[in-house]
Amino acid sequence: MEHEHNWITSEEVHQYVQRYSIPETEVLLALNKETNESVKGAQMLSGAHQGAILKMLSALINPRNVLELGTYTGYSAICLAEGLQEDGKVHTIDIDERLNPMRIQYWEAAGLQAKIIQHIGPALEVVPALEDTFDLVFLDADKGNYINYFDLLMDVLPVGAVILADNVMFHGDVLKPEEEQSKAAKHIQAFNDHVQASDRVATVMLPVRDGISIIRKIK
Ligand SMILES: C[S@@+](CC[C@H](N)C(=O)[O-])C[C@H]1O[C@@H](n2cnc3c(N)ncnc32)[C@H](O)[C@@H]1O
Repeated sequence: MEHEHNWITSEEVHQYVQRYSIPETEVLLALNKETNESVKGAQMLSGAHQGAILKMLSALINPRNVLELGTYTGYSAICLAEGLQEDGKVHTIDIDERLNPMRIQYWEAAGLQAKIIQHIGPALEVVPALEDTFDLVFLDADKGNYINYFDLLMDVLPVGAVILADNVMFHGDVLKPEEEQSKAAKHIQAFNDHVQASDRVATVMLPVRDGISIIRKIK
C-alpha cells in the first residue's frame, strides 16, 4: 500500500476502496516493492487497486486471449491473466527488453510463464504481425500513440472486444486549461475526444488512480 501511486481520488478514498478490494498477492506485492525500490518510472506500475480492477474485468470477460501494450515490469500482465480461458494467453508488448529477466522471474513465481508471451518492439509494428484475436486489450504504452493504437485496434479487434485505456485523466491535467497542460495530457485529451467521436465504441470512464476508460467495440 505504501507503494501506491494515485492521482485522481483522495488518499483516504484510495486506501478505503483498496481495503475492500481483492488483496495484492505475495508475488504482486514483491514485484511492486522491487519495482519501486530499483526500477526507474515506478509510478507507471498499475498497483494493488488498479490490479484488482484488471483482475476483476478479466475474470468477468473470461477472454481467450489478452493483448497488452506496455509491459513495464510485468505487474499488469499477471493481473490480466486472471480470467483467461484454459488455453488462453496474454500477449504483452514493450520496446524495452532490459526488464525481461525481472518480468520472467515474477511470471514464473506467479506460475504464469507459459501463459504470458512477451513481444519486444514498437507496438505499432508488433500488433499487425500477431495472429491471435483478442477479446481484451490493456492500452498502457506511449501516450503520443494512443490514437494510432485505437485506430489500429479498431481494424483488428472483433465486435464485443474491450479496450481498457489507462491514464485517461493524466494526473488530473486534462481538467486544466489547455495552455497549462503537459504534452502527454494534450495527447490524452486528443485521444479522449477521438474515442468519443467514434460511433464504433461504447465507453465509460472511471476516475480511478489515473483514470481508466472501458471501451467496448460495438461495430
Ligand atoms: C505505463 S508503462 C506500463 C505499465 C504496466 N502496464 C503496468 O501496469 O505495470 C508503459 C510501458 O510502455 C513501454 N513503451 C513505450 N513506448 C512503447 C512503444 N512504442 N511500443 C511498446 N511499448 C512502449 C515503455 O517501455 C513502458 O515499459
